[in-house]
Amino acid sequence: MSEDVSRGTGATIEDYFLEDRRFPPPAGFKDQAVVSDPSIYSRADEDWVGFWAEQADDLDWFKKWDEVLSWELPYARWFDGGQLNVSYNCLDRHVLAGNGERVAYYFEGEPGDSRSITYRELLEEVEKFANVLKGLGVKKGDRVAVYMPMIPELAVTMLSCARIGAVHSVVFGGFSPDALRGRILDAEARVLVTADGGWRRGKAVPLKEGADAALAGTPSVDHVVVARRVGGSTPMTPGRDHWWDELMDGSDPVAGGAPDEHCEPEVMEAEDLLYLLYTSGTTAKPKGIMHTTGGYLTQVAYTHKVVFDLHPESDVFWCAADIGWVTGHSYIVYGPLANGATGVIYEGTPDTPGKDRWWSIVEKYRVTILYAAPTAIRTFMKWGVEYPEAHDLSSLRVLGSVGEPINPEAWIWYQEKIGRARCPVVDTWWQTETGAIMISPLPGITATKPGSATFPIPGTGVEVVDDQGEPVTRGGGYLTLTRPWPAMLRGIYGDPERYKETYWSRFEGRYFAGDGAKIDDDGYLWLLGRIDDVMNVSGHRVSTTEVESALVDHPSVAEAAVVGAKDETTGQAIVAFVTVRSGEPTDDATGESLRAHVASLIGPIARPKTVVFTDELPKTRSGKIMRRLLRDVAEGRALGDTTTLADPGVVDEIRRLAEVSPGEE
Ligand code: WTA
Repeated sequence: MSEDVSRGTGATIEDYFLEDRRFPPPAGFKDQAVVSDPSIYSRADEDWVGFWAEQADDLDWFKKWDEVLSWELPYARWFDGGQLNVSYNCLDRHVLAGNGERVAYYFEGEPGDSRSITYRELLEEVEKFANVLKGLGVKKGDRVAVYMPMIPELAVTMLSCARIGAVHSVVFGGFSPDALRGRILDAEARVLVTADGGWRRGKAVPLKEGADAALAGTPSVDHVVVARRVGGSTPMTPGRDHWWDELMDGSDPVAGGAPDEHCEPEVMEAEDLLYLLYTSGTTAKPKGIMHTTGGYLTQVAYTHKVVFDLHPESDVFWCAADIGWVTGHSYIVYGPLANGATGVIYEGTPDTPGKDRWWSIVEKYRVTILYAAPTAIRTFMKWGVEYPEAHDLSSLRVLGSVGEPINPEAWIWYQEKIGRARCPVVDTWWQTETGAIMISPLPGITATKPGSATFPIPGTGVEVVDDQGEPVTRGGGYLTLTRPWPAMLRGIYGDPERYKETYWSRFEGRYFAGDGAKIDDDGYLWLLGRIDDVMNVSGHRVSTTEVESALVDHPSVAEAAVVGAKDETTGQAIVAFVTVRSGEPTDDATGESLRAHVASLIGPIARPKTVVFTDELPKTRSGKIMRRLLRDVAEGRALGDTTTLADPGVVDEIRRLAEVSPGEE
């Protein structure tokens, strides 16, 4: 086992694949999918470059490309020489085609307020706000940081950046001020767009206060724009901070008058940067994933159409992710708008005011396509079928899943209880780095199996390989991508070496995704989860290393090891093994203070569920922490071979402690 993949876990590939960490599909399950036109796969395979060019043709280009693909591993350029504008494709062209009165978004606020926004209205807002940004000095290529709740102004901000060629860097509103500051610094953002707050579980989350804390020590930021959402008093720094509405209506005391209502879309090169999105890797420092213009839009638009069998004139598409993650970027904003679809944006949590909130939204807007994470589905299973059953869900046609492996039980429940056994379920595998869906069934074309993401979408190249990089046709291995794809990341912002090293060095000529996968006897792909030190908590990527550095940042902590342990609801739960400095207490209060410390440095999603204090951490002779063993302890399973331990007694100690202090919330 080579070192770079085990990254100190002490695990081998067999640990992941000999034991199938998934469940087999239950006997007797009948799948209803019909193969209508499977030739789409072979046609795409015969000429995959030409296939993507055909898809790119569905966009509006100011100037057609000279070359579809130039590929010098690991650098791809798609549609070179082509010129277009993303906001033009998402807005203007639909209005020009006579669809300006179609609803772009139904916005549902958590407190129950709602708003529908047509394509024409969205275009008007975007043109004005794009001029506001220009007025604040934002130029093509400048970075704009965005820290907002799920409100329409978030989409307006992204599209306005795209209109003037500025690069947005959206930071999930649940991240801490520290996390926001790190991302602002890395991107050297000039402007931050935020809000006074957002509604979550009936409470106003004071986002602007967090933004202010982040802005201490970010010299690049000249201006802050604050959208009003929750009301009440908000600290504003004169000269730097501006209210969104005052900038828009011309009453801002600093900016000069109302913005022009018209803003010509900037002519962008296909390979110009569209956005940065930071994601957790195997080190403590998040990576700024770079996405560009033409290829990205081509693939998000194509996949949004084909994976969800989209009919833009009649469908209501609800992707229930947060726009702060890539899922929201690609399938709330860019894909659906490029296709002229009608979408739903919901601000709050699924249990507010009651546990049927999602289903009341499906009923209210007659949602036809729902795209959600397995963790949400498992939570609904736990809450009980009475909540969806209280609502008319007959509008639903297609159900999607994303973010982590979906267990067959949840898949079947989703199809039967939510889809009322009529709707195909599409399990879609992809990553922040891939930008768009890579593996998924196509409704009406691919026969599904509950729990399997089935096959690569047309045009992509996926192979599972063994330790030596040899393709396996049956059984488990590492998931790799064998061809460049239009929406692929173009690099890590400011760190080209890390880009090569992270994705292209493990297997020659292949993109290594960091996931394990298995091919069954029928050739179906089953995703097995991350095999590196990245955890997946409720579909969110959290780095073990990042949490470990947050823990050792605490004055009481000497050393920490973090593992993701299987969890029924959230997929994985964060378990931290901690040794304290001598004399420091190991009581509940310390554990609580450690958990709070991690939440404050990274964000609540990174808060360990369990903290286990131990005198020592199990290490190999070379001093590597044996995370696999810790994972076993955390999951309460039998321990593996411990002979490489420096001190085998540690294991018993850890096991005993883990048993006596489960630390459940
Ligand atoms: C995991 C989210 C199994 C996977 C779009 C991947 C999945 C990581 C699936 C990317 C799926 C995503 N089945 N696992 N359908 N979808 N994953 O960057 O481990 O937040 O590497 O992108 O989520 O997470 P990210």
